[in-house]
Amino acid sequence: MPQTYRVAILGATGAVGTELMELLDRRDFPLNDLKLLASERSAGRTLPFKGKKLTVEAVSKAAFKDIDLVLASAGGSTSKAWARTAVEAGAVVIDNSSAFRMDPSVPLVVPEINPDAIATHNGIIANPNCTTILMGMAVWPLHQERPVRRIVVSTYQSASGAGARAMEELRVQAGAILEGKEAIPDILPHPLAFNLFPHNSPIDEAGYCQEEMKMVNETRKIFGDPDLKITATCVRVPVLRAHSEAVNLEFDEPFPVDRARELLKSAPGVKVVEDWQKNYFPMPIDATGKDDVLVGRIRRDLSNPQGLELWLSGDQIRKGAALNAVQIAELLVTQKLLRSAAAMAS
Ligand code: A2P
Repeated sequence: MPQTYRVAILGATGAVGTELMELLDRRDFPLNDLKLLASERSAGRTLPFKGKKLTVEAVSKAAFKDIDLVLASAGGSTSKAWARTAVEAGAVVIDNSSAFRMDPSVPLVVPEINPDAIATHNGIIANPNCTTILMGMAVWPLHQERPVRRIVVSTYQSASGAGARAMEELRVQAGAILEGKEAIPDILPHPLAFNLFPHNSPIDEAGYCQEEMKMVNETRKIFGDPDLKITATCVRVPVLRAHSEAVNLEFDEPFPVDRARELLKSAPGVKVVEDWQKNYFPMPIDATGKDDVLVGRIRRDLSNPQGLELWLSGDQIRKGAALNAVQIAELLVTQKLLRSAAAMAS
């Protein structure tokens, strides 16, 4: 009999939590049981799963008893508060927050890039930041052929990156503006409908915001290249749920555009979308709900013979978060790195 696992989703009522449930079902993850955890606010709520209604519980120490795997997506402070408790109870935690990503003892994994890193885990595996995952998916296949030396990236990030309530805020604000009313910000610091603003995470002394430095530091960790030069400008745009990025890459020598396109066409999890006649390239509406990161406008950088330009859109909730986490969980299963309390008991 194949082994099955008791899984808990921490943050089950959120945007990523909802997607995690859908992916566990759609990808037929070998579940023995699924427990839904969130804050006290959601305790008692029911959510549909595989034709049944599951009741959400408030997270507690007791909730992790006999759980084999926790998929956590409830923010950094919740992960800091509960991840070690879950590990002490015997679970492996795949954490979607930034809480442990730069901890040297915690692998930071994109299965298409550094799958072997999961074997080094001590109970916690970190899922990278969404913009970092999406960029990594497009850059890694090229980096394998010829090391990239410098990345200049600008992001166009959707409301979903700030959670389900920010998505709702964008809908409400858009409606208000169309009715001639004022767009009042609450979750986000500024009106997002019919507007955009530089990412609102805290800014360091050098003038970079936290989101930008996540792209720098996390990409270096995932690629295993601490010297990779990266500069990022992160911007929130009035899109519901897929991020886009303009990426400029510099190599030691010219990278033939046709070869780059060929590599990206055969890269797992990447789809090249380019119709130069129709001016049709990756767009958030096409990336929404898709597993693949869409890449296009692959062209030589006119200002630098050793440079390449590309453009991408990827579903922030899917590959940028929930899908990557479920793929890590699947790797744990196939590499026999996950215990099954149910199998041990039988
Ligand atoms: P809740 O709905 O009970 O607030 P999103 O990123 O879409 O905003 O979702 C955040 C998720 O994290 C939600 O499921 C939310 O649950 C959960 N969450 C937020 N704070 C806590 C907390 N202190 N303890 C447990 N879960 C939390």
